[in-house]
Amino acid sequence: MSVNSKLYEGKAKILYTTDNPEILLADFKDDATAFNAQKRGSIVGKGIINCSISSHLFQHLEAQGIKTHYIDSPAANQMRVKAVKIVPVEVVVRNIAAGSLCQQTGLPLGTVLKQPLVEFYYKNDELGDPLLTRDRLQLMELATEEQVATITNLALQINKYLQGFWQQCGITLVDFKLEFGLDSQYEVILADEISPDTCRLWDATVDDPNLRVMDKDRFRRDLGNVENAYQEVLQRVLKAVESNK
Ligand code: TMP
Ligand code: ASP
Repeated sequence: MSVNSKLYEGKAKILYTTDNPEILLADFKDDATAFNAQKRGSIVGKGIINCSISSHLFQHLEAQGIKTHYIDSPAANQMRVKAVKIVPVEVVVRNIAAGSLCQQTGLPLGTVLKQPLVEFYYKNDELGDPLLTRDRLQLMELATEEQVATITNLALQINKYLQGFWQQCGITLVDFKLEFGLDSQYEVILADEISPDTCRLWDATVDDPNLRVMDKDRFRRDLGNVENAYQEVLQRVLKAVESNK
């Protein structure tokens, strides 16, 4: 496979075209940003760790029948993916109150939600990725009603499978962000990444609200030991994958 030109550079990944128009190469970077890139830094080894974790999670989801853009991982920080047209919506699934849900509703951190909450945010850095209502989604024609229903269903299924997987790792899945895309058949499939950058992951055996954090909140909130936490998540993922073989 020959790699052609840079198609797009995001905050955490670079996408390259390949000689096959249906296949792109994603290069995972160590760069880290938070608060709409107002805070910038680097997490050493993150590119390799997030690529590896995402690859395993996509394969786990594929095995449960969830279609994803994942093809394979030709190098430690690279993933070959199906080219899709990204739906410009960030889909957040929450099981436990944290982050912006606490800030915007006053719910105490750690409140277990009676049922998972699926939220849609407009993927638009200039506007600061605002929370959307279903009506605004339709107004902006970001997705059809049918696509929104499909995405909601998929997000809830993915949540169920991921909760089970992370539980095996001794990790509580607090919340996470997904992105979906339309493949060449206009089918909605899971895209982007699933990693400690895009999930809140709490060590299930630790009660201390700062010590239990194993995800990008360590970077966002200057909690320290960011690299160690990412490494520990990867080690637990590899162990779970091994024991599922
Ligand atoms: P929030 O509580 O800040 O809205 O974040 C919800 C989840 O989405 C959390 O797991 C982190 C993830 N997330 C991203 O992946 N990218 C983002 O730009 C933001 C704001 C959150
Ligand atoms: N996507 C956010 C940023 O711009 C990062 C985050 O909070 O996860 O910088």
